[in-house]
Parts: sequence; structure tokens; C-alpha cells
Amino acid sequence: MVDPFGRRIDYLRVSVTDRCNLRCIYCLPLEGIHLMPRDDILSYEHICAIVQAGVELGITRVRITGGEPLVRKGLPRLLEMLSGIGGIEDISLTTNGTLLKNCARELKRAGLNRVNVSLDSLKADRFRRITRFGELEDVRQGIEEAKGAGLHPVKINTVVMKGINDDEVWDFASLTHKEGWHVRFIELMPFTDAAGFVAESEVRQHIEQMSSLKPCACVLGNGPARYYRLSEAKGTIGFVSPLTDPHFCSTCNRLRLTAMGKLRPCLMADDEIDLKGVLHSTEEIKRSILKAISQKPERHPSLPLKRNMVQIGG
Ligand code: 5AD
Ligand code: SF4
Repeated sequence: MVDPFGRRIDYLRVSVTDRCNLRCIYCLPLEGIHLMPRDDILSYEHICAIVQAGVELGITRVRITGGEPLVRKGLPRLLEMLSGIGGIEDISLTTNGTLLKNCARELKRAGLNRVNVSLDSLKADRFRRITRFGELEDVRQGIEEAKGAGLHPVKINTVVMKGINDDEVWDFASLTHKEGWHVRFIELMPFTDAAGFVAESEVRQHIEQMSSLKPCACVLGNGPARYYRLSEAKGTIGFVSPLTDPHFCSTCNRLRLTAMGKLRPCLMADDEIDLKGVLHSTEEIKRSILKAISQKPERHPSLPLKRNMVQIGG
């Protein structure tokens, strides 16, 4: 599948829930948001019908997102069903890591290949302030369990925020050396005004004051991150810069499916195509997927958005 701007679309991000056990300051207000009735959430069977149709059109990689995907019951069953669909080469999951320690092995057995874990601070009190409920230790154990289970490579996603965690950039970067972590610094997208923006160039300066960064093209990934290495580090440093990377949109290879069954051509545009009415027919699902691809914008529009990240799938 190639969109009107010549981009090959082979990657589908599937949100399995709009619920989350945390309330990260840049993502959700403390009181939460209006949740969709549980019955409106796509069943695993329907998700697989959509993925199957996508695979017939050229999707080869799937990422499970949320909300927090591990709060949805029976997720291993979905992974088993997805791994049974011929033509999928990579199944990954994005999680906040708080529930990972008890299920990493089960997820791996069910067919998950790898995980990205969101982690914005290495200090327990600060981690709690950013996530409002999170226990840093749970996430650290989750990361270790995921590694032990062979969910390789485990990548850490860190959203850098002015005055909140931008003093920890080097601490994160040095873990690529000390622990072999793969750390990706993500530019904050302004879904709320709870935190200040820090550009990639500034993050890079923090790191380069301490050590030089060498480009590397070595990490398994589907997205727009660009990877570097500190000298002799086993892990890598990635940058995901939706706001300042001029090539961010020109390499976009993805579609998103929300937990409510809506296809989004672009994370940052409010267009959606509802699949609820066409789920009975693979051919009709395919037609909707092709329509979504034909509607992918060349670049993301300016913000803000009507929906919150947790409702779209990060
Ligand atoms: N800006 C950037 N990243 C965000 N995420 C959630 N909200 C935002 C935002 N406003 C990230 C999470 C996680 C992924 C699902 O999306 O930190 O890594
Ligand atoms: Fe939950 Fe992720 Fe949003 Fe944090 S950023 S509240 S972990 S969905």
C-alpha cells in the first residue's frame, strides 16, 4: 500500500483500550477523561478481522497500544490470535511497564516479540509526581522481566519536559552504557499544557556536553526514530521528534486503529474512519483501510487536537 505522497504503509498501531492505571501529567487530567462504554470497545475477534484485512493489503507489523494495553483482560489471547495470522513479521507493545513484571513471560509465549516501556524519571518521587500513581520500582522490575523473557530489544521511551525531567537526560543516556538500555527521547506533543516543550537539539546538547554521539542504523524499529550510540555503549540513544524533525512526516509508514474501531490516518489530525459498520466483510474493511490511506495528510496539521493521546493510542 502506497499513499498519495509515495509513502509505503505497512505498520498498524492497534489501541486495545482507552483506559490507563496512571495519569501522566502530559497525557491525562487527574480526574481522568470521559471513557467510552466498555461494550463499545472492539472485541479481539474484530481486531483480528481488521488486522487480517490489513495484512492482505500489505501490513506486516503490528503494535499494541492503549491507554495502557496491559489493563485489558486476556491480552495474551489477542497476541496468540495475531501470531496465527500469516504475514505478520513483528508484534510489539507499548506499555507504561507497571504491570509488566508479572506477565512478561506469558506475553512472550503468546507471540509478542518486543516491548517499549515509557519511563520519564529515574527518581521515585519524581516518577510518582509525573505519573500521579506510579511506582518506579514496578517499572524497573518490569523492564528486567521483559529482558529476561527475551522481549528484545526493550526500548525505553522518555518524554523530555522543561523543568520536570530535563535535568535527567544524561542519567538516561548513560544507562545505554551502564545497563545496555535502548533509550529514546521523545518530544512532548502539546495535548495538555501541563509541561513545557524541549526540542531535540537541546536534549542533544545536554548529551554532547558529556560525550559524543555516533549515528547508528542498527536497531529494530518501525518508526521515525533516528539512532545514535555513545562510544562503547551496548545500548542506543534514539530521538523521536514530531515537532522539530523535518523528515518526521515524510517517512510515516503507519495507520492507527482506536479501541473504538476508528482508523486514524494521522495521530495529529482529527480525521477518523469508523470501521464498526463494516466489520462483517473483509472486502469492506479493506475498502475503508484504503480510504484511510488515501486521506493521510502530507504533514501533520497544527495542534491542538480534539482527542487525547490515551483515546487514540500513543
Ligand atoms: N507527547 C509525547 N509523548 C506522549 N506520550 C503520551 N502522551 C504524550 C505527549 N503528549 C507517549 C508516552 C508513551 C507513548 C505511548 O506515548 O510517554 O511513551
Ligand atoms: Fe497512561 Fe501512557 Fe497516558 Fe501515562 S502516558 S497516563 S501511562 S496512557
